[in-house]
Amino acid sequence: MPLTRRELIQNGAVGAAALAVGGVIGKNLPGGKEEEAASQGATGLAGQAQKVADARKLSPDDVTRAVKTFVAPGNQHGDEFFLFSSGGHSGQVFVIGVPSLRLLKIIGVFTPEPWQGHGYGSDSSSPVIKAGTSNPASGMLTWGDTHHPAFSETKGEYDGRYCYINDRANGRIAMIDLRDFKTKQILDVPNLQSSHGGVFVTQDTEYVHISTKTPTLVDMSKADGALDRFPDAFRGYSTFLAVDKKGRFDMARSFQVELPPYTQDLSDSGKLVSHGWVFLNSYNSEMAAGGNMEGKPAIETGASKGDYDFMHVINWKKAVELVAAGKTMTINGMRVVTLETAAAEGVLYLAPEPRSPHGVDVSPNGAYLVVAGKLDPHVTVYGWDKVQKAIAAKDFSGKDRYGVPILKFDSVVSGQVEVGGGPLHTQFDENGYGYTSLFVESAVAKWSLGEPYFKGDKALKLVDKVSVQYNIGHLVAMEGDTVKPQGKYLVALNKWSIDRFPTVGTLKPQNFQLVDLTGEKMNILSDTPIGMGEPHYVQAIRADRIKAWEVYPVGTNPLTMEKDPNAIELGKERVERKGTTVEVWASVKRSNFKPDNLVVKKGDRVIMHLTNTETTPDATHGFAIPRYNINCSLDPGEVTTVDFIASEAGAFAFYCTEFCSALHLEMQGWLMVTS
Ligand code: CUA
Repeated sequence: MPLTRRELIQNGAVGAAALAVGGVIGKNLPGGKEEEAASQGATGLAGQAQKVADARKLSPDDVTRAVKTFVAPGNQHGDEFFLFSSGGHSGQVFVIGVPSLRLLKIIGVFTPEPWQGHGYGSDSSSPVIKAGTSNPASGMLTWGDTHHPAFSETKGEYDGRYCYINDRANGRIAMIDLRDFKTKQILDVPNLQSSHGGVFVTQDTEYVHISTKTPTLVDMSKADGALDRFPDAFRGYSTFLAVDKKGRFDMARSFQVELPPYTQDLSDSGKLVSHGWVFLNSYNSEMAAGGNMEGKPAIETGASKGDYDFMHVINWKKAVELVAAGKTMTINGMRVVTLETAAAEGVLYLAPEPRSPHGVDVSPNGAYLVVAGKLDPHVTVYGWDKVQKAIAAKDFSGKDRYGVPILKFDSVVSGQVEVGGGPLHTQFDENGYGYTSLFVESAVAKWSLGEPYFKGDKALKLVDKVSVQYNIGHLVAMEGDTVKPQGKYLVALNKWSIDRFPTVGTLKPQNFQLVDLTGEKMNILSDTPIGMGEPHYVQAIRADRIKAWEVYPVGTNPLTMEKDPNAIELGKERVERKGTTVEVWASVKRSNFKPDNLVVKKGDRVIMHLTNTETTPDATHGFAIPRYNINCSLDPGEVTTVDFIASEAGAFAFYCTEFCSALHLEMQGWLMVTS
């Protein structure tokens, strides 16, 4: 007898999978029901799906994968999570849906982004880029290397308000407001020349943390011979940036903790029981500075000499007390708790970690600090209770050359798990499993944490492994470094894609692989090429946590998110001339600019305030002037100001850059610059 629809559903072949029941999925049905299913499915929808599967050479597993990741046309909420991916060299942030892995948006951050008019002469973005880019070496920085995004948190959970991201190349950090997905601030962090994995947010967004990667030469005017004096001349800095009510960095309440020049790397914030502390890896406690042409070891060799590097254990709440008590030194405008003070006052401790470590990740309950060493096949799990006890009992093996107490490895480590070749980073699910990327092995290892998650034999055990293609760096599980991981999926950020995609020239895309975590075994669901820079790290947030705006209240300046004083209503357009300055209040709507003719003299300063008076979602206009490098996006309700010198005489046909209406081409005007 053919299976009824109910039976099909009970057999797990629900929804679209049921379409394929005629053959592919039917083969998985229990109890000799395959034939029945096949007979039912030979016609109708099931037959259609089978034909497609056959024609496209899809295996039963492939069909299941497709069904698990497919988002039907028109299903606005088919993606349950958003990835906020660093854009690597692109200097931007990519927003990607999960499970579809569709690119939803590229957010302009450190690099000018033309679609959003980010950095092209408009007041709603250029000041952001300019403020963060003044630099004596180059005059202007026009790119960044975005690396580690971090979301604002409330009680250790993502709260959907802000995303922060660092510029690994130039030691900067940016803030993105998740109401409009736009960059509001770029901060050139004092005393940081470069920054790698030090970005995270403390559990109630008390601070956004960013630290040095390569140590900073403390006195930049004394570069001569400084590499020979490396241990004395250079220092690291752990930066705690306070944020104001709008999520922006508040330098007046921010501070740094000075660190030894050990090349600090990945780091994480304590949570719940370890709240108030942060943990930073370092991978060059040898303080190797290179010199391979002068007969000294290359940095890679010198930095791998010792058996151990140091995890930095920082008591930031204690540091806050010292800052409040004025026990700081101001360096380049930043209050700094010096290394001497940090060591003496119990702010900084060091814990040995297997050499050349990369990731340190705090478990969801805050009780374990997981470190993976690139040159060691284990993950090393430190117990927070053990660390606390050792600190209280002053159970130190000694001090480093800067007087920082060193904890004993055996006193603070709970255990190790042999996971495989080249472990880097760990993420967590809600069931007490860790997922560690294995760079050398091109795999993800799944292993169990200790109590209270797993006891006895079950704890600290490798339980599964899946191959990824290829050379995985970071990985992310859904909300996998919060106090409440969501499980379900993991995304592997693979650096090499060699044979996975069509050849598109010599520079190949990276490969984001979606991994299903819901079964007993991890299972690869899809490959997605990323051909826009090398995404370094990604954070995943539940889509429903973000309450993004569809339109701005008319007259909003995105920079302040408040009413712009130069916003106008329709009919209030005007032009004022004062000497050589021409100021214009213009309206922008389907399908005209008003005024559409503007006559100025060569050399005049032109200030144009543009108000998009539209209230309809998606009714975006653009404003671009040929030859003047001016290009802005005016989202519905947005106000922006362009300010330029009319330096070239002639007739310039400014136009709307968005296909806004049937008369989009007619949405044009003339800037006449008379000589
Ligand atoms: Cu407005 Cu095209």
